[in-house]
Amino acid sequence: MIILGIESSCDETAAAIVENGTKILSNVVASSVEIHKKYGGIIPEQAAREQINCIIPVIQESIRKAGFSLKKSSIIDAIAVTIGPGLIGSLLIGLETAKTLSFAWNKPIIPVNHLIAHIYANFLHYPLSLPCPALPAGRRQAGINFPALCLIVSGGHTELVLMKNQAAPGGGQAQFQWIAGTRDDAAGECFDKCSRLLGLGYPGGPAIEASASRLKIKDLRSKEFKNLKLPRPMINEDNFDFSFSGLKTAVLNLIKKHHPLYILNNKSFISYEIQEAIIDVLVVKTLKAAKKLKVKSILIGGGVAANQRLRDKFLLAIQQLTNVPIKLFIPEKKFCTDNAATIASTAFYNYQPVSWQKLKPNPSLTIN
Ligand code: KG4
Ligand code: ZN
Repeated sequence: MIILGIESSCDETAAAIVENGTKILSNVVASSVEIHKKYGGIIPEQAAREQINCIIPVIQESIRKAGFSLKKSSIIDAIAVTIGPGLIGSLLIGLETAKTLSFAWNKPIIPVNHLIAHIYANFLHYPLSLPCPALPAGRRQAGINFPALCLIVSGGHTELVLMKNQAAPGGGQAQFQWIAGTRDDAAGECFDKCSRLLGLGYPGGPAIEASASRLKIKDLRSKEFKNLKLPRPMINEDNFDFSFSGLKTAVLNLIKKHHPLYILNNKSFISYEIQEAIIDVLVVKTLKAAKKLKVKSILIGGGVAANQRLRDKFLLAIQQLTNVPIKLFIPEKKFCTDNAATIASTAFYNYQPVSWQKLKPNPSLTIN
């Protein structure tokens, strides 16, 4: 089955053609991030305008790159589109375009929850028959086992979700149960806001990661670093919830307490410590939930999962679980951030077409 996926929930306009949920025939992403960089964050009105400019060329490009032509649209079996969560103006552009194509081509249309698509990035990258490269050679095992605990870490979300099973490809729906989430800011939002406080720009995650990576190992032993310790919010609490707004406030207080020159000279230290604080909490809380829920796999998804330190720390933590065999899955970096291949893959595994007349965007769509 060949599915055209369309994603337009925020500042990325994306289209992809995926065969049988895993084989990517094309994957095109246009981003308006360069425009938003000037303002230090996303301007929803501007993002929607850029979606209008990009949506048709991006879909055309995805069809061309897959080796098809618009005239031969019959090769596409179905259209999958993000219906939420996201920015209403941005969502509408992708959704209305998908509905028009569904009507014009007479193809089924499958609505997709953007959060669930972040989880399905793992199905794209690790087709069920491949070993998991995230595990060391001796512990590599093929396939995702269920139940699986999913950690979604993006700009607007930090959620732990239990994936109980996987619906048979081509029919039915996988079963999800929401476990916990952030009580205030999301992990990506914390990266973005701290980056802004430090004058490192937008998006904050890659900027903080780059700034932190300038530190040398010997710097970590210095007195300055010991003075720059930040809190790990809720890390020891007996629940699976997250909270990141206090960390952002701690960074603000640190900046206010010191001379601007001191902050300027220590940006890499502070970036490193912000990154460590966010990741430590994510790792500890996710593993705590995974053990309690007795899951067989952990699947991570969302833009923050592109962070190399997060990937390394999760892998290390999993390797240390010698008596609890949990497999770890993290998508290839380009499938962590927003794209449409994950949308098409989600639709393949959760194939539930809906008549186009009934489809509306839902900016605050959740999981359960
Ligand atoms: O999933 P995504 O592309 O869009 C949303 O659905 O929100 O995630 C965007 C978020 C932003 O907050 C961005 O700063 C963060 O993911 N991000 C990262 C990295 N790359 C993107 N955070 C930490 N390290 C990264 N390398
Ligand atoms: Zn996303």
